[in-house]
Amino acid sequence: MKIMIIGGTSGIGLALAQHYLAQANEVAICGRDLQRVEGSLFKQYAKLSGYEFDIADQAALGNAMKNFSATGLDMLIVAAGFYFNTRHHQLDEATTLRMLQTNVSGLSHAFELGAKIMLAQKSGHVVAIGSAAGLLKNYPGASLYSASKRTVLNLCDTYRIALAPFSIAVTAIVPGYVDTLKLRQLNHGNASHKLFILSEKKAVTHIVSAIENRVRISVFPWKMQCLINVLNQLPRALLAMRR
Ligand SMILES: NC(=O)c1ccc[n+]([C@@H]2O[C@H](COP(=O)([O-])OP(=O)(O)OC[C@H]3O[C@@H](n4cnc5c(N)ncnc54)[C@H](OP(=O)(O)O)[C@@H]3O)[C@@H](O)[C@H]2O)c1
Repeated sequence: MKIMIIGGTSGIGLALAQHYLAQANEVAICGRDLQRVEGSLFKQYAKLSGYEFDIADQAALGNAMKNFSATGLDMLIVAAGFYFNTRHHQLDEATTLRMLQTNVSGLSHAFELGAKIMLAQKSGHVVAIGSAAGLLKNYPGASLYSASKRTVLNLCDTYRIALAPFSIAVTAIVPGYVDTLKLRQLNHGNASHKLFILSEKKAVTHIVSAIENRVRISVFPWKMQCLINVLNQLPRALLAMRR
């Protein structure tokens, strides 16, 4: 398979890249800084390529996708995301814009370009990494991040309906906490206190299984899904007291 992973230079995206490379797939990892990927990985896998661009830069994204997909594209995974540790983070205008450009409009452009290639070949699979934060409804003080990830789910729904007649699958991956370097950095080096946190390895197992089964939406771990279901049933006044 030919797989492009935008947001593949670290964390969940890189772990997925390593999984698919080990299965002898052709993988492109993309991000703003390819230096983050150990050079030895490129030496280890001849089928690995890298593209450096900001997902907000539509032209650069288009060039990379055109280049990698010259002989087809089986799967596009958009893992690029921008997040903070808490929903109480104050966002200035530039940071707000960056979050929306990375998590929403960048993903939307990537989907559009990927879908174009897949429509021509009448096959393919588009995957987005959302977040359990996007499932929370009417949560008092909910963050822009959770709104952006809710939009990811909505975009996945829209593309799924549009692309289904052409044998193109769309999977929304909705993880709870995953013990990535980024999450650890946001938590002074240790994120183990985060509720129901999973290792990258376990997260990859969940994601790969959802992709293989062409699942529409995969929420994990199940305990996080249950907690969110309960929170979504609680009266808003009760939730506001938790802030
Ligand atoms: N870790 C968690 O607990 C968790 C939970 C739920 C959902 N998620 C979601 O999972 C995804 C990955 O999270 P992670 O923890 O693995 O974070 P991460 O290690 O920071 O990975 C983010 C990836 O996105 C890339 N990226 C960020 N901004 C970009 C931009 N403007 N243009 C292109 N690439 C960009 C980064 O590469 P460069 O820096 O090289 O650009 C990196 O490869 C995110 O979408 C996040 O919201 C994470």
